Amino acid sequence: MAKQIDTILINIGQLLTMESSGPRTGKSMQDLHVIEDAVVGIDNQKIVFAGKKGAEAEYAAADIIDCGGRLVTPGLVDPHTHLVFGGSREKELNLKIQGMSYLDILAQGGGILSTVKHTREASEEELLQKGHFHLKRMLSYGTTTAEVKSGYGLEKETEFKQLRVAKKLHESQPIDLVSTFMGAHAIPPEDKDSPDEFLDRMLELLPEIKEKELAAFADIFTETGVFTVSQSRRYLKKAAEEGFGLKIHADEIDPLGGAELAAELRAVSADHLVGASDEGIQQMAESGTIAVLLPGTTFYLGKHTYARARDMIDAGVRVSLATDFNPGSSPTENIQLIMSIAALHLKMTAEEIWHAVTVNAAYAIGKGEEAGQLKPGRTADLVIWEAPNYMYIPYHYGVNHVHQVIKDGKLVISREGAVLG
Ligand code: NIG
Ligand code: FE
Repeated sequence: MAKQIDTILINIGQLLTMESSGPRTGKSMQDLHVIEDAVVGIDNQKIVFAGKKGAEAEYAAADIIDCGGRLVTPGLVDPHTHLVFGGSREKELNLKIQGMSYLDILAQGGGILSTVKHTREASEEELLQKGHFHLKRMLSYGTTTAEVKSGYGLEKETEFKQLRVAKKLHESQPIDLVSTFMGAHAIPPEDKDSPDEFLDRMLELLPEIKEKELAAFADIFTETGVFTVSQSRRYLKKAAEEGFGLKIHADEIDPLGGAELAAELRAVSADHLVGASDEGIQQMAESGTIAVLLPGTTFYLGKHTYARARDMIDAGVRVSLATDFNPGSSPTENIQLIMSIAALHLKMTAEEIWHAVTVNAAYAIGKGEEAGQLKPGRTADLVIWEAPNYMYIPYHYGVNHVHQVIKDGKLVISREGAVLG
């Protein structure tokens, strides 16, 4: 007798399970296993089978989803966002196109500091509602797991407010969230002459953040005019002692040696890396630190030099991709757009890109054993795409290709009837 399960997806044109024993690099990022004419079985929120048609033979389900020959993949993982913030910064776009740089805007009290002002002023309820709005949009683009950073408070009360909001968001909407404490995101105006004292105050928050389980990672902006490499080393070492996984905003604008620092401290990820040196890249390959590349940010900052993804992959660095969603340098929730920019400007192939937004992205936020792959026993997070094959997503850019999103085995987004593309 057939075994009864909750849901069976049939008639899948192409299935990417992204099965992998760990994060991928080098040629193994190119090695994409595509199953044609496939099926997926789901029971009790978990994958029962994911493979070639026939795997469903001994099963029956009340809920049969006919995928109509569409592409099915794991839900996407966005491993770098700043999605809890007050206000918005549309006025800076005009300043930018008139020639003012990101760091100039910051030095004049705008940029991150303007968002700090609005985040300090916002109530917890306002931030929660705004967070819900952005997450709903992320989900509609196929993201089912994401990282979220604090860092728009730069003082205890607001940093905790942001982290509490992130925790509530995790508990109250479908996307799984992993939180990062980024109290060291900028130097607040009141501390501009005493960055070390400011860092000390941020470090004092770590034990309580840990105790309240408000963040798994700590992150710092290592950049000209923000924190130096030696300040970053001190801050991150202490965070590691307190039990946090490490992340660094490294070599985003100026090449300061952030990649080397990430490797030295065995950070889980180093993010941005536009200016990473050859030695930094080599050392990251050896330490296993995952590169989270954010080409949408380079694009939106209006720069022409992008992170050297090809050199990184060739050197053996595990590369992933993220939106960096934030109100200043990357106002987009759309990771599909990032996939197109990665193809065009990072020269990553479609096969590498799919690894970068699933398996590698999950490992970059400590969720490699839970998210980013479809295999028996894993949580059933998957996307049915309005696309005939996996190459189609980075190729046809700027639109939403999602047909349906299934999170924890449940249909949470259905764009049935939406205009194709
Ligand atoms: O990753 N570089 C620092 N932090 C963010 C930008 C935050 C903001 O501009 O509000 C980034 O680019
Ligand atoms: Fe960022």
